[in-house]
Amino acid sequence: MNHIYPDFDRIVSRKEKELRLHQKSKVIWFTGLSGSGKTTLATALERDLFNKGYLCQVLDGDNIRSGINNNLGFSNEDRIENIRRIAEISKLLINSGLICICAFVSPTEETRKIVRDIIGMDDFLEVFVSTPLEVCESRDVKGLYQKARAGMIKDFTGISAPFEMPQNAILSINTAKCGGVFRHAFRQTICRNSRLIKKPLTFGKRFFKIKTIVLIIYFFVKSIEKATI
Ligand code: ADX
Repeated sequence: MNHIYPDFDRIVSRKEKELRLHQKSKVIWFTGLSGSGKTTLATALERDLFNKGYLCQVLDGDNIRSGINNNLGFSNEDRIENIRRIAEISKLLINSGLICICAFVSPTEETRKIVRDIIGMDDFLEVFVSTPLEVCESRDVKGLYQKARAGMIKDFTGISAPFEMPQNAILSINTAKCGGVFRHAFRQTICRNSRLIKKPLTFGKRFFKIKTIVLIIYFFVKSIEKATI
């Protein structure tokens, strides 16, 4: 790096921001074929967590590629650059205390390793949306599979470009098998596991909580005593 002097120390720290938001920031990364249900799961998860009081941000392939990454295509090199930039953006977001929910094909171990290396294993939760190609192709929500089969789109993941099975996912989800019930179960899994994202109470808050409970019990006992005298 020439003549660049990064200084992150004067910025309000991630820890302080997490405390303010009462959450632990993480990157939850959905990988899988186009049409597998990554964005659907990501947005459903964001809504659930938001309703429970968590602050999240969803990043997804089509959105990011129509903005900051609109100069990138789908060659291996461009996908690597696409994912590298997204990982850096996610890192900025978790340093702001947010929970960052990402939905990207990220088709190779190389691309997913770039994310792991940039984010760091402690903050990175990889979820494989394992919906099979036949199902994604039969859904063909955007009509892209048909175009790829007709040779109108080159390097299309699953058709003319590879998708490598993730080796490090904490969870695998086949949306073809689950429907609404499964989606619910999945949200419960992530939300129930809220230790991953919920900041423990500070000592002061815990003390205040205990003090309040003790006072309530004290006044309850006193009022019973009064009533029985
Ligand atoms: S990635 O491979 O670089 O991770 P990304 O998730 O950003 O891909 O974008 C995938 C989205 O771009 C797909 O959901 C699809 O709508 C669209 N798309 C357009 N061309 C392709 C292609 N050749 N391969 C995969 N997805 C494509």
